[in-house]
Amino acid sequence: MTNRAIIIQPGGGYDNVVISQRDASAPAKGEITVRLHANSLNYHDFAVVSGMFPQNEPRIPMADGAGEVIAVGPDVTEFAVGDHVVSTFFPTWQDGVPEVEGFATVPGDGIDGYARDIVTTHVNAFTHAPRGWRHVEASTLTTAAVTAWRALMGDDALKPGDTVLIQGTGGVSIFALQFAKMAGATVIATSSSDAKLERLSAMGADHVINYRTNPTWGETAREITGGRGVDHVVEVGGPATLNQSMAAARVGGHISVIGILTGLGGEVAVISALAKQLRLQGVLVGSRAQQQDMIRAIDANGMRPIIDRCFPLESIADAFRYQETNQHFGKICLEM
Ligand SMILES: NC(=O)c1ccc[n+]([C@@H]2O[C@H](COP(=O)([O-])OP(=O)(O)OC[C@H]3O[C@@H](n4cnc5c(N)ncnc54)[C@H](OP(=O)(O)O)[C@@H]3O)[C@@H](O)[C@H]2O)c1
Repeated sequence: MTNRAIIIQPGGGYDNVVISQRDASAPAKGEITVRLHANSLNYHDFAVVSGMFPQNEPRIPMADGAGEVIAVGPDVTEFAVGDHVVSTFFPTWQDGVPEVEGFATVPGDGIDGYARDIVTTHVNAFTHAPRGWRHVEASTLTTAAVTAWRALMGDDALKPGDTVLIQGTGGVSIFALQFAKMAGATVIATSSSDAKLERLSAMGADHVINYRTNPTWGETAREITGGRGVDHVVEVGGPATLNQSMAAARVGGHISVIGILTGLGGEVAVISALAKQLRLQGVLVGSRAQQQDMIRAIDANGMRPIIDRCFPLESIADAFRYQETNQHFGKICLEM
C-alpha cells in the first residue's frame, strides 16, 4: 500500500508542491484510520496551494477528503472498519452556534489536510458518507455542499415556494441549486456563459441570467419575482456582486455572504441593507451536525453531486490550474 502525501512547502505556489511519504500511526482512543480515495477542490484550497494564503510551515493541503475506515481506536463506536466516510471542515465545531474564527483548525490550512493516502485522526474529523456514493462523490461535500446547506437550511429556513438566487456555476452554487430544488424553491441562476445557463436550466433552474451581458442582473432577478425580490441570495461573488445581490433581495431578505471571487473588499451600498432591512450573514462552512443533517437529506432524496473532472492526486497543480480557468461546472476532484 502506498502512503503518499502532497506537501506544500512554505510560501506555497505550484513550484512548491512536492510528493512525499507520510505513514499513519495506529488509532488511539477516539481515533480512526482512513484510507483516502478522493479529494475535491475549493477556492480556499487553491488559496493555500497557490500561495495566496502562504503557509509558514510544510502543509498537506485539501480540506475535503473521502475514503474508507481501515482501523478504529479501542473505544470508537460511531465507525467500523469498512465504513465509507467524508471529512469535516471544522473537526472542533460539533453543533450549535459558530465558535471558530478563521482557519487555524481547518485541515489543509491551519493543520494538515487530506491530499494523502492515509490518515489517523479524531472521529470528529469525519462523518459517514451518503449511502451508495462513490468516494469521489462523497469528497465533494465537506466545504461546498455544507456551505450551501447551512446558508439555506441552517442560517435561514428555506420553505417551498421561496425564491433563491445563485451566482455562477462553481461548487457552492450548484449544490445550492440542488438543495433549493430539493426543498421546493424557485431558483434564479446566473452565469457568464450561455452554454452553462443551458445546463443550469436542464438541472432545474427556473430562470437564468447572463451576468456578463446583463450587469444589472440583480434588478432583473427582482423583476422576475414580480417586484417582490428574492428570499435568499447565495452570495459567492463578493464586493463586485454584493450591491446587485441587495438589489435582488426582498425586504427582510437573507443574503449569505460566502465568497470572495471578485476580491476581499470594496464599496458596499450600506443604505440598501438598512432601507430593505436585509439580513447579511457571514458564512464559514458549517458544523459537523449540519454536515450530518445534509447527508440525511441527501440519502432521503437520492441527490448526486455534479463532478466536472477528476485528476490523479499527483496532478494536483494541473487540477488547480484548470480550476483557475473557470471552465468547470460543479466540482473538480482528485483521485488516489
Ligand atoms: N465562506 C465559506 O464557507 C465558503 C465555502 C466555500 C466557498 N467559498 C467561497 O465561495 C466562492 C465560490 O466557491 P466555489 O468553490 O463554488 O468556487 P468555484 O467552484 O471555483 O466557482 C467558480 C465559478 O464562480 C463563478 N464566478 C466567478 N466570478 C463570478 C462573478 N463575478 N459573479 C458570479 N459568479 C462568478 C463562475 O461561474 P460561471 O463560469 O458560470 O460564470 C466560476 O466558474 C469562492 O470565493 C470561495 O472562496 C466560501
